[in-house]
Amino acid sequence: MIRHPERVELACNENPLGPSPRVIAAAQAELSRIHRYPEAGASSLRRSLAEHLRVSEEEVIVGNGASELLELLVRAICTGPQRAVFAEPSFVIYRLACLAHGVPFTEVALDGYVHDLSAMARAVSPGTGLVFIANPNNPTGTYVGRKALGAFLSSVPREVFVVLDEAYAEYADAPDFVSGLELRREHPNAIVVRTFSKIHGLAGLRLGYAVMPRELAESVHRVRAPFTVSSVAHAAGLAALRDREHVERSRALNRSERAFMQAGLSELGLRVVPSQANFLLVDVARPAAAVGEALLAQGVLVRSLPALRTMLRISVGTRPENERCLAALQAVLT
Ligand SMILES: Cc1ncc(COP(=O)(O)O)c(C=O)c1O
Repeated sequence: MIRHPERVELACNENPLGPSPRVIAAAQAELSRIHRYPEAGASSLRRSLAEHLRVSEEEVIVGNGASELLELLVRAICTGPQRAVFAEPSFVIYRLACLAHGVPFTEVALDGYVHDLSAMARAVSPGTGLVFIANPNNPTGTYVGRKALGAFLSSVPREVFVVLDEAYAEYADAPDFVSGLELRREHPNAIVVRTFSKIHGLAGLRLGYAVMPRELAESVHRVRAPFTVSSVAHAAGLAALRDREHVERSRALNRSERAFMQAGLSELGLRVVPSQANFLLVDVARPAAAVGEALLAQGVLVRSLPALRTMLRISVGTRPENERCLAALQAVLT
């Protein structure tokens, strides 16, 4: 995508710091070898991820963004008449993947912008193969904590896979936030999906990973094309995992700037949904699409969501970007 240099881009929940310089160096070094196919089975990256996550290599799969993995899970799990269950609104790929593969699904409304896990548990029936839970959720930024998630996993039959989509998990700092990486020890039907697009700042390179039971990983390998992750993405991913400082810097910036934006939006008299992610959902109390267009005219790109009529989703940027966004919003709203 060609981007306007002066535009403030707060629509796609990207890392405003960009990638680590060490990642750029690793990706550039790999360019001289791009006449070769990527390493078979992505073994180096999967091994490195497995060490990092304290799981076995056979349980790790990498993909062309988390999006590819989410779709592959639909294809690998819902091979018969199985249904999928997920929240609405949540990450749009769940619905798109089901539609693309003819998999029936049940959408369960959020309750006060948060996953209604009791209603989702009731929506699980003998025909359910798979449940998606984005934690934290996109587009709301809300999360479900240890107790609710543990209870949900305990209530779901073991043969139903529960995909915990943790694209934003690295930003979550609530004391009771828990990763599926921990829960899957007690609940082997839990699958964790993560991405390099957010905290690692590699959205354009397309790299994601998932941790799942080994037998399921084998089924996924059977339905996928080889080499969907480029050798440059492999090299970048390995370097990104090693640069813990960049991750810490990104997390710290998001924590302070999320609070800054939350306060600034509240000062404008707007209601903000508490967020555990790198974006905020804010009620502008008028049709959000028109506000989004007016902001764009001021050079600030945010996301309006048709399903949430008066709500805008605004990614957390750097301080100058956030200040520009608040100033533009103030100008548009008054
Ligand atoms: C909840 C959620 N899951 C997954 C993704 C996909 O990430 P990727 O860029 O790795 O495909 C996103 C991207 O916005 C997301 O919001």
